[in-house]
Amino acid sequence: MYGRLGGAQGACQGGAASQAASKLTRELAGYLAASLANAFLVPSRLTIALRALAALARTPALLTEVLAADVPAWRARALAHAGRWPGLAGGGLPLVPFAHFVPPTAPLTARTVAPFAFGDGGSLPTDLLLLRALARQHPACRYFEIGTWRGESAANVAAEATSVHTLNLSPAEMRALKLPERYIELHGHFSQPLPHVVHLHGNSATFDLAGLQREAGPFDLVFIDGDHRYEAVRRDTARVFEYLVSTSTTVVWHDASRQPGQPRWEVLAGLLDGLPPGLPGQLVQVGNTLCALYSPQPLPAQAPDPLADPGQFTVEIRM
Ligand SMILES: C[S@@+](CC[C@H](N)C(=O)[O-])C[C@H]1O[C@@H](n2cnc3c(N)ncnc32)[C@H](O)[C@@H]1O
Repeated sequence: MYGRLGGAQGACQGGAASQAASKLTRELAGYLAASLANAFLVPSRLTIALRALAALARTPALLTEVLAADVPAWRARALAHAGRWPGLAGGGLPLVPFAHFVPPTAPLTARTVAPFAFGDGGSLPTDLLLLRALARQHPACRYFEIGTWRGESAANVAAEATSVHTLNLSPAEMRALKLPERYIELHGHFSQPLPHVVHLHGNSATFDLAGLQREAGPFDLVFIDGDHRYEAVRRDTARVFEYLVSTSTTVVWHDASRQPGQPRWEVLAGLLDGLPPGLPGQLVQVGNTLCALYSPQPLPAQAPDPLADPGQFTVEIRM
């Protein structure tokens, strides 16, 4: 369109005036062309809504993603528990500094993470150090976790605990979900060779936790790190507290923050809705980690401050 108008003007007239007029016409034509293109390229709200409906019709599972992304709704759901859990507010759970669990003076073994893969779906080094430190606090610690994946958390805690039980969907259940064979094969990569790690297979929604408690409990430390959607976190929390938790059990949830200090409200809503009423302990987030923690003993918690001094760690990598 631009070329055609400009060309027609240029062919009929000569001189500076006509050149200026021609330039103006070309600019006007260009502006009109761009506006028209925008009208077609920038979709209206209706177009976006129609596209979204078509995408949902093609892939109904997207609806779960849409609901999961409704952060204000999860936040409101979690904050409905603020009256019950002191310190729960817009910044999430009250915060206990990482150094409370792993002080700078702790022996080197207590400040070492091994194994560590720097791979997807794993925990932060600070999450693993927290678990190791909690296991050290319990003499002859018995540890249970939901979510094995490569076995990094299980293998790290195994260095400090007397027994480790790790539960994951079975290979057959993962195959039914059409997960890649290599991903399935990597489950327990680090923990399978360790003699005191017991690998349990099944869905945490239905696994016989009462039987597990009879055979291998009581557990001192439980790590909930399986499916992180609201309903799964709520159900795992309720079942863990129904069957595995005694008056001295510490429970840790992974991915209760997106980044350290940034609440992941869907997970917080799930765990807060799943906790039984009347628990005597304290619910906190742990600084510099992605973890929420239920402690039967009181902890020195403070209001979370995203702009607080970030602290400083030195990381040495050995291969
Ligand atoms: C985030 S990864 C666990 C990471 C591991 N705890 C670590 O820190 O190294 C989550 C694992 O939970 C498993 N999982 C997901 N839903 C589950 C369920 N309903 N029951 C048991 N395992 C589940 C997945 O197969 C995956 O391996």
